[in-house]
This record gives sequence, structure tokens and C-alpha cells, in this order.
Amino acid sequence: MAKVAINPFRPVYPTPAALITSVAADGKPNIVTLGEVFNLSLRTPPVVGIAIRKATYSHGLLMECGEYVVNMPTVKLMTAVDGCGSVSGREVDKFARFGLTPVPASRVKPPLIAECPVNIECRIIGTEEIGDHDLFKGEVVAAHADAELLDGGGRVCADRLDPLCFLYNLGCKGEYWSLGRKLGSAWAAKKK
Ligand SMILES: Cc1cc2nc3c(=O)[nH]c(=O)nc-3n(C[C@H](O)[C@H](O)[C@H](O)COP(=O)(O)O)c2cc1C
Repeated sequence: MAKVAINPFRPVYPTPAALITSVAADGKPNIVTLGEVFNLSLRTPPVVGIAIRKATYSHGLLMECGEYVVNMPTVKLMTAVDGCGSVSGREVDKFARFGLTPVPASRVKPPLIAECPVNIECRIIGTEEIGDHDLFKGEVVAAHADAELLDGGGRVCADRLDPLCFLYNLGCKGEYWSLGRKLGSAWAAKKK
């Protein structure tokens, strides 16, 4: 197969479309949709990174507040996710506009979003300017899942997550996708 050169804009795919909550000094919360959300350290400690442009309202709130919550939406929330990434909290109360419900977090000031089945509370431990985005590194101080996601042994069932995926690269103009079917188990080769 011949290889052709392509535009290296946002070349790694897919990513989640996640909803990040932050809060202003007067207590007013905001939501921003981000595709640039990463697991940076897994256990010791768990750290979730987000990359966000300085021009957003959320960037200033994150700098001020030092905390954020990563809320993982399902496919059903696509319209709200797209809305939270299309308007600014400078002008709009996105909770009211998109029918989302703030719920107090256990360890941080920004709220969880009730409609998102998984919520990850993060405290910022570092920031880094990287080209056109700033990377925020958030140590996970608490994480929550809807009880219906768990099996009898308390493990999250992947087939109940229904995550919303974001593709915006390789000439594609920005699209939401759902996951396909389960193909197999990881590290099966090691177990043989
Ligand atoms: C699917 C999607 C993914 C996005 N990903 C990012 C991202 O990773 N980083 C970023 O700075 N902006 C991203 N945006 C744009 C912001 O969500 C958008 O500028 C938003 O209106 C900023 O809101 P705020 O001003 O209330 O913070 C994305 C938008 C959409 C729709």
C-alpha cells in the first residue's frame, strides 16, 4: 500500500469528548467540552491532564481555582456536549442552557455533572505551555461512578459506559462517534 503525506493536525485519534467543570470565585460554575483529555499517570498517583487554550473562559477559572472535574458523557449527551463546546461561560450559564445538573463534589470546589456516569475530581499539580494549548496536570483526589455501571463485584462494566468519541483530524471536520463492539481482552497473549 502506497503512503501519502497528510496534514499532521491533531493526528492521534480517537479521543473522548469530555465535559470539564470549573468554578468562579463567586461560586458560579462553568462547563467546557474538551477533546484533549489524557491519562498522564495511572496509579502513583493517578493524574489526568487536559489541554486548553488561553482564550477560553475556563482557562482563567482553572488558574484561579486550581481544581477541575472531568465528567465523562454518554452518547445520549451529544447535543449538550456540542453546545458546551460552542458557547462561552462568559455569556451563557451552560448548566441551565443545556439541561445539566450540578452536584457538589466531595473534595474539590467545581461540581460534578449528574448526567455524566463517571466524574473525576482533580487538583492541579502543574501547568505547562505547549504550543497553542496549555497542559493542566490534575491529580485525581476522588472519582465516582453511577451505581448502575458496576457489576456485583464492584467493577465498572465497559459495556455500560457508552462513551462519546471525538474525531477531528486527517481532513475530517469534527465528528462524534460511538464505540463499536468489544473485540477481545487485553493481555490475552500473556495469559497463554
Ligand atoms: C468536541 C469539542 C472538543 C473541544 N476540545 C477542546 C480542547 O481540547 N481544548 C480547547 O481549548 N478547546 C476545545 N474545544 C473548544 C471549547 O470547548 C470552546 O472554545 C468553548 O466554547 C470554551 O468555553 P468557555 O469559554 O466557557 O471556557 C472543543 C470543542 C468541541 C465542540
